[in-house]
Amino acid sequence: MNAITDDVYYVGVNDRKIDLFEGMYRVPNGMAYNSYVIMDEKIAVLDTVDANFTEEWLNNLDRVLSGRKPDYLIVNHMEPDHSANILNFVKKYEGVRLVGNQKTFVMIADYFGNDFKEGGVVVKEGDKLSLGKHELTFFFAPMVHWPEVMMTYDLTSKTLFSADAFGKFGALDCDEDWEDEARRYYFGIVGKYGVQVQAILKKLAAYDISAICSLHGPVLKENLAYYIGLYDKWSRYEPETKGVMIAYTSVYGHTAKAAKLLAGYLSSRGVKEIAVYDLARSDRSECVAEAFRYHTLVLASTTYNADVFPPMREFLDCLAERNYQNRTVAVIENGSWAPMAAKVIMTKLEKCKNLRFARNTVKILSALNVESLSQLSDLADELAEEE
Ligand code: FEO
Repeated sequence: MNAITDDVYYVGVNDRKIDLFEGMYRVPNGMAYNSYVIMDEKIAVLDTVDANFTEEWLNNLDRVLSGRKPDYLIVNHMEPDHSANILNFVKKYEGVRLVGNQKTFVMIADYFGNDFKEGGVVVKEGDKLSLGKHELTFFFAPMVHWPEVMMTYDLTSKTLFSADAFGKFGALDCDEDWEDEARRYYFGIVGKYGVQVQAILKKLAAYDISAICSLHGPVLKENLAYYIGLYDKWSRYEPETKGVMIAYTSVYGHTAKAAKLLAGYLSSRGVKEIAVYDLARSDRSECVAEAFRYHTLVLASTTYNADVFPPMREFLDCLAERNYQNRTVAVIENGSWAPMAAKVIMTKLEKCKNLRFARNTVKILSALNVESLSQLSDLADELAEEE
């Protein structure tokens, strides 16, 4: 059995068949849907799993329960990757009491046509629930990632059941670092809600936490300051890496050439961290996460239908809707007869807070020439000085 502490157990599942999480995020290493059990005088199960894993999950539970019956199902999050088996669970364990907040029970009714509130426990922020030895309390974390989200903290074992927070893409049996896939997951899923993440981090700061049990990704038991520190940085929208991300779109290769030349110029001027992404050929969520990672973003786009090239437009929309801010942005535009890309980029980002636009912009008329090469060199000087 998969024990986290003496009497807290993991009963989640790995999804190795999924291609797109939430129908849009590429997950080459699959996904984990985590679920936990606290064995005490009373037994609490925390969250269910995705609809495709009912039998495996119930079997995992059976092994831990060893013939005992759970008393509570704590519903920290109602998104179906965690709530889909509520009805199956209630049918199997008649009399089990659901634990959630007001919003949770409304969503349960919406999904299952019955709120199962009779006998249920409607908790408020800070309420306590005793299982015997273990005493649980609840922190509400609205919009991290849905409005009903709450976290359960076990005051006895100091374990935090953090809902989606501190999760990552990837099944638990894949060998990969937490950070990159957690960053891609964070900015994809809750990047818009930095203020709400800050609010829950402030609440948690008053508590001693020995383990973080997220609904995705591994249980975190060591060096928790590192994970919490990254969440703090991400939710403050602070850049992590001094360096430059160059994101480009290109039809016939001229804008791509400018992007790669700029990378070379920056490198020769001493900039150490440079990443170049072709937006039409790179994973969108990875590009978004990288844009939030770097201090400086260079956007290089062709003009297309008096707008930017579509993959650039989608990328800019992703950034703006996730409250992209606190960075330096530079623009390279290309246009064969009426370059519009720079103007469109500026307009798309105009509501983003605290962006500093580079003094130098580069205008390419079809192909690089002496003038645009000189602009590229000036831009490299400016950005290198800043880095
Ligand atoms: Fe993993 Fe918001 O669900």
